[in-house]
Amino acid sequence: SNPVRVALLGCGTVGSEVVRRLIEDSEELAARVGAPIEIAGIAVRRPDKHPELPQHLLTADAGELVESDVDVVVELIGGIEPVRGWLLTALRKGKSVVTGNKALLSEYGAELSEAADASGADLYYEAAVAGAIPLLRPLRESLAGDRIMRVMGIVNGTTNFILSAMDSTGAGYAETLDEATRLGYAEADPSADVDGYDAAAKAAILASLAFHSRVTAADVHREGIAGINASDIAAAKLFNRTVKLLAICERVVADDGTESVSARVHPVMIPRSHQLAGVGGAFNAVYVEAEAAGELMFYGQGAGGAPTSSAVLGDLVAAARNRVAGGRGPRESAHAALPVRPMGQT
Ligand code: HSE
Repeated sequence: SNPVRVALLGCGTVGSEVVRRLIEDSEELAARVGAPIEIAGIAVRRPDKHPELPQHLLTADAGELVESDVDVVVELIGGIEPVRGWLLTALRKGKSVVTGNKALLSEYGAELSEAADASGADLYYEAAVAGAIPLLRPLRESLAGDRIMRVMGIVNGTTNFILSAMDSTGAGYAETLDEATRLGYAEADPSADVDGYDAAAKAAILASLAFHSRVTAADVHREGIAGINASDIAAAKLFNRTVKLLAICERVVADDGTESVSARVHPVMIPRSHQLAGVGGAFNAVYVEAEAAGELMFYGQGAGGAPTSSAVLGDLVAAARNRVAGGRGPRESAHAALPVRPMGQT
């Protein structure tokens, strides 16, 4: 088959792992897809700062790369503008998009899905929530015949790393955050992690998929961990508890049977015997409760270059396979539009 041509936008912690594995594992991936995956170009802000990358592939013009002869656009830049415009252009032209962009999806996910559905392009974003853990496609595909009631868990590796370290060693907040940044877990601006914006964006994405709804980050009640200090952790210990930052998304059924969605992110004191209490480091863990399936638990590395590259490559293989087969993955914008419950009414 003809090669599947891929444009990569952004080449940081995750992107560089994606490039490395696309090059090193090219034969194996080609066998799985049924056609070679060819990197058509890599857009980075400063090509001269990337001596480690194949120089002939580098460009500073992401917009031009998106418009060129490519089949799939993999976006790992992050942020809303100008990325939103590039991805809409790609989708409208029928190019598949793979992205890990939580901020963009949590605000403009519906717009992107509609553009994908209108042109028949694929939109995959497994890397946007919980790093390596296969979670979004199970919600979107495997559980599509069930009725999800609740999605709850630890979805930010940086804050979990900090809270776990504060709990086990009494380490200070600042030094632990520095370590999380050094390990590549923290966002470019770590206040996105610490103040709960990253987790709130993920909660919006999870709630939208789980409840076929349109939840944006602004709909999510949000409280971060900046106010938690060593004495809070010590107090929790006295009561045999520990502190975790949880994202909680629920289908709320009122007495009269009407349904709505509620989503919130805040620190919770949980018993040390609870399974979530044992989730340490940059690991994430998410419970899903569905009517027929009952309780499911998803656990694994939620941040970091290599784990997150696994989710990106999985999506890329899926999108490439669909192109080789001349089809596409599941639609998702046929929203039943379950209303979102105003904040505070949980
Ligand atoms: N900063 C994020 C985290 C990266 O710590 O979980 C993964 O989305």
